[in-house]
Amino acid sequence: MTSTERVELHGAAATTLMTLFLHRLDARARRPILGDPYAEDVYDRIDHDVHGLWQATGDATAIVCRAAVLDRWTREFLAGDPDGQVLHLGCGLDSRPLRVGAPPSCRWVDVDQPEVIDARTRLYDLPAHVVQVAGSLTGDDWWDAVDPERPTLAVAEGVFMYLPPRAVHATVERIASGTPRGEIAFDAVAPWTVAVTHWAPFFRALGTTFDWAWDPADFADRHPDLFARDDVSIYDEVILREPRIWLRPLLATAGLLPALQDSMRLHRFTVGP
Ligand SMILES: C[S@@+](CC[C@H](N)C(=O)[O-])C[C@H]1O[C@@H](n2cnc3c(N)ncnc32)[C@H](O)[C@@H]1O
Repeated sequence: MTSTERVELHGAAATTLMTLFLHRLDARARRPILGDPYAEDVYDRIDHDVHGLWQATGDATAIVCRAAVLDRWTREFLAGDPDGQVLHLGCGLDSRPLRVGAPPSCRWVDVDQPEVIDARTRLYDLPAHVVQVAGSLTGDDWWDAVDPERPTLAVAEGVFMYLPPRAVHATVERIASGTPRGEIAFDAVAPWTVAVTHWAPFFRALGTTFDWAWDPADFADRHPDLFARDDVSIYDEVILREPRIWLRPLLATAGLLPALQDSMRLHRFTVGP
């Protein structure tokens, strides 16, 4: 029998169990979208309080579409800069460095809160060039692990919405000014979703809410040196890839509403020359 690991996560840290659960759901599907080959084994080895994870299944397609696009952008960066650096911010229990085959020539830095990194190191057998950094993005310590000379991709999936706005902007600014060139890729939610997290039973049970939402004018104003390269609606990805094909026309009709179309978007910005 495989040994299990006791994992105690609360608040925003516990949301990584939700994404892992949804990756596992996708991996078990007849035609997976992400096809995370690690999710099932890792999830099944976790001994934890499930926190009603089943309540998140309605978001499964969106969550795995989000991961699939960010995997593609990560592979593209590493193909162009195999000696580059990937800052995997709020990495949670995601297998991305293994999934994208991070080459030994690169520097890969996984950053998350100490309790998450503790669980991550117990659940994954990660190679030496995939460095684990326990620290909060609201503080400074994690930055010591960053190589300021390497071209850098910062990939923050499902993270920035949990941070206070000033921490999001400080993190982006730090990467933009502290690395020679590269990219910043992240997802951002629409402002109306912040209110929803204050009453939705799933978030109440976890004890967390969204704090930061996308405001394009504010972001452009604060980060004038970043060049917007991609802006992808996750909702559009869901319409294209929803496994229940009969549901796609209904989703497409609902997607005419800007509130749904913009509920979560993926952004990729270029840093430097
Ligand atoms: C929804 S999970 C996403 C995990 C992973 N990126 C994925 O997509 O599977 C959110 C993650 O953000 C992390 N997080 C939230 N606030 C953070 C902070 N202040 N510093 C570092 N990580 C944080 C949580 O611990 C959690 O692992």
